[in-house]
Amino acid sequence: MTDTAKFELAGKDFDYPVLSGSVGPDVVDIRKLYGQTGAFTYDPGFTSTASCRSEITYIDGDEGVLLHRGYPIGELAEKSSFMEVAYLLLNGELPSQDELDGFSRTISRHTMVHEQLATFFRGFRRDAHPMAIMCGVVGALSAFYHDSTDIHDPQQRMIASHRLIAKIPTIAAMAYKYSVGQPFLYPDNSLSYTGNFLRMTFGVPAEQYEVNPAIERAMDRIFILHADHEQNASTSTVRLAGSSGANPFACMAAGIACLWGPAHGGANEAALNMLHEIGTPDRIPEFIARAKDKNDPFRLMGFGHRVYKNYDPRATVMQKTVREVFETLNVSDPVFETALRLEEIALSDPYFIEKKLFPNVDFYSGVILSAIGFPTSMFTVLFALARTVGWVAQWNEMITDPDQKIGRPRQLYTGPTQRSYVPVGER
Ligand code: ACO
Repeated sequence: MTDTAKFELAGKDFDYPVLSGSVGPDVVDIRKLYGQTGAFTYDPGFTSTASCRSEITYIDGDEGVLLHRGYPIGELAEKSSFMEVAYLLLNGELPSQDELDGFSRTISRHTMVHEQLATFFRGFRRDAHPMAIMCGVVGALSAFYHDSTDIHDPQQRMIASHRLIAKIPTIAAMAYKYSVGQPFLYPDNSLSYTGNFLRMTFGVPAEQYEVNPAIERAMDRIFILHADHEQNASTSTVRLAGSSGANPFACMAAGIACLWGPAHGGANEAALNMLHEIGTPDRIPEFIARAKDKNDPFRLMGFGHRVYKNYDPRATVMQKTVREVFETLNVSDPVFETALRLEEIALSDPYFIEKKLFPNVDFYSGVILSAIGFPTSMFTVLFALARTVGWVAQWNEMITDPDQKIGRPRQLYTGPTQRSYVPVGER
């Protein structure tokens, strides 16, 4: 490709530099476009716009590739651990054994939350959605940890990052415990990051909780699969919130709010609800017909992706993990059979083939989380827990990027032109 893009507007020619990344499509640098031409670009949903430079995650949607710092997601899910992936995302390289041990130790030292935060929980209704609690409590961390809110101090940024990664499982487990009316459990730092979370969620003070290693491994893998996904809606929200200089706890709360939506993190909850509604494979054609009907707003939840137009590599790992968990627990679930059949039918249907709609990571994650024992309302919370690592890494990268500016998109104004105010009695 040439290193300049030609642009013509109102009979005048303009040249814009073309930037190349290490891999992936080139990018036309239009930062001077408005200053030189007086025109903006129009790109709702940012489908053609790179909002930043990033070295963290690369996705090739057509090829179904997802790399974290260059490492394929399949390899990481297979061979790595969530703590190792967290280190990788934050620091750019895989850790040595000593570095990994040190990082895991640091994270476990921060797993407890301020005791007064427990009181804060009690202000919520018992039937509050745990994501509502997460938005509130994570935002409230900035009121408890003043000493790590100076974003200009690298040391404070690091402490805030470690605190967020360490405390989010504790807060997520507390949100669950609160909803079922059981006492909160303090973290047990002798356990792994994921084992500790499982114990805080499913353990009770009256009994010894044994972490099932197979479930621990599956859960850890689910966390790896959700750890980061470049500039998705919630990550862009975290970056946009952070671009104004807001503290990291507040930024993460903004990310959690965005993730909650059914088109994003809420999709696995919606996908499982849909699978339950379908119930048995014989009802699949009815739902496929609805998904194809332009007059029906129904969509196959867990299908389609803004970026992946071939397959979602995370969905492949997730499907395999469901099988493993079912074998370990020695259970079968008709919902999983429905999911497999639905995937098969949809993938041979011309509508889904033409529109390049494939199962995304959320299609199978609900099935597995439900088998592990999580209620559907906790699914997006688990996503938020894992994605905190990505949000934190992306937020840190943004803060240290010399090109970083406050995010301020422009608009195509289509409202009324200037007019004079008419007093209310004369309208
Ligand atoms: N079921 C039926 N039709 C669909 C679906 C679906 N799940 N997804 C997209 N389509 C159709 C649309 O109706 C549209 O048809 P048209 O061109 O005839 O108007 C076409 O495919 C393109 O869809 P868009 O919504 O324009 O695609 P976009 O890239 O903006 O949306 C999205 C991606 C939001 C994920 C969409 O596929 C969707 O709503 N899927 C269901 C929700 C879901 O699973 N979300 C999880 C995303 S992954 C994640 O957050 C981890």
